[in-house]
Amino acid sequence: METEPVAFPQDRTCPYQPPAAYAPLRATRPLSRVTLYDGRPVWLVTGRDTARALLADPRLSSDRTRDDFPAPTARFTGFKKRKSALLGLDGAAHRVQRRMMVPSFTLRRATEMRPRIQRIVDERIDAMIAQGPPAELVNAFALPVPSTVICALLGVPYSDHDFFEGQSRRLLRGPKAEDVVDARDQLEEYFDDLIDRKRKQPEPGDGVLDELVHRQLRDGELNREELIALAIILLVAGHETTANMISLGTYTLLQHPDKLAELRTDPTLIPNVVEELMRLLSIADGLLRIALEDIEVAGTTIRAGDGVVFSTSVINRDEDVYADPDTLDWHRPTRHHVSFGFGIHQCLGQNLARAELEIALRTLFDRLPALRLAAPADEIPFKPGDTIQGMLELPVTW
Ligand code: HEM
Repeated sequence: METEPVAFPQDRTCPYQPPAAYAPLRATRPLSRVTLYDGRPVWLVTGRDTARALLADPRLSSDRTRDDFPAPTARFTGFKKRKSALLGLDGAAHRVQRRMMVPSFTLRRATEMRPRIQRIVDERIDAMIAQGPPAELVNAFALPVPSTVICALLGVPYSDHDFFEGQSRRLLRGPKAEDVVDARDQLEEYFDDLIDRKRKQPEPGDGVLDELVHRQLRDGELNREELIALAIILLVAGHETTANMISLGTYTLLQHPDKLAELRTDPTLIPNVVEELMRLLSIADGLLRIALEDIEVAGTTIRAGDGVVFSTSVINRDEDVYADPDTLDWHRPTRHHVSFGFGIHQCLGQNLARAELEIALRTLFDRLPALRLAAPADEIPFKPGDTIQGMLELPVTW
């Protein structure tokens, strides 16, 4: 049955559920037509198996510099002007960079980082206890934890965090295309300078960027422009996403006191809790691609040049895969969600993100057993639908 296309993306009404207006999309899996902000009709992928097949299909391109690449917001045109590393590349060009980066993001590297992450988390909670209660959890905890971790991993001075957190915010939330372009310019300048400083050091530091500067740049495997683009995506993706998961994950758990009580009695549940929160919250909702060729899928033809968007929040609620999908239930088999994407662009930082989330959430509820919201839940502001989902603020007390 033909229905009026739904506008995509839209703002959520509950910060951990997809917008109520997506109901028709959930009823017409695995593919729907939706309309972007500029009126352009695109395919919206909503079925889990179709999503995984298409995300692994090389006939879909991730090259945001193409004129016909679908733009979910007006500011997105700012992203079209520069090649982004990894996420903006297809095929062989992507493979070269991915292979270069994988050794720094293995499960083993993430496991080795755990004691350091634990120290960073403990220091933030110590500071909250010293100054509070109450506290604003986004600024006191959710943002500084992943920001400090990614700085340590990359070899970026955390003392510059006000600058790069601010520019990341402009990159992801604009509001205008000029903000995106200017933020990108500023981050490029910043890394240009940081790379110069690193090159002048007689001994390389132990960060991922130090390694890249000293090995790849000197051996000519990576030019300076590529190195800067890589540094930007690692720094931005490395802190904003995880920060949103910590803030929204905390909010969601506080809204489910019975579940939280169970977690408190059995801390070994934490890996499942994190995985189920990843599924339910689907904070990166709206992965973007463009079809390079005609693709036959689910009885339909996606034509070359068509925009294809993946709604992770809807895909992760596919009733054929998850019973009672709107419910937070960490006893379900929750694996194979698409919150970290799938295929060649599947999140490079997922091992690190899982380690951070496990340590941050477990330690927070462990050390502050009386943690609760310090404002009515429905008055706490969260992010609009056209960016990574998360809390804008999270007033808490204990
Ligand atoms: C919970 C936190 C995170 C979430 C929800 C998340 C989500 C995602 C998603 C959905 C993708 C695929 C996008 C697409 O296919 O269009 C992705 C890719 C990526 N993520 Fe994450 N991410 C998180 C944390 C991190 C961290 C900590 C890093 C560390 C540097 C990171 C670095 C990247 C990079 C570099 C890519 C591009 C990979 C490629 O194109 O090969 N992410 N992430």
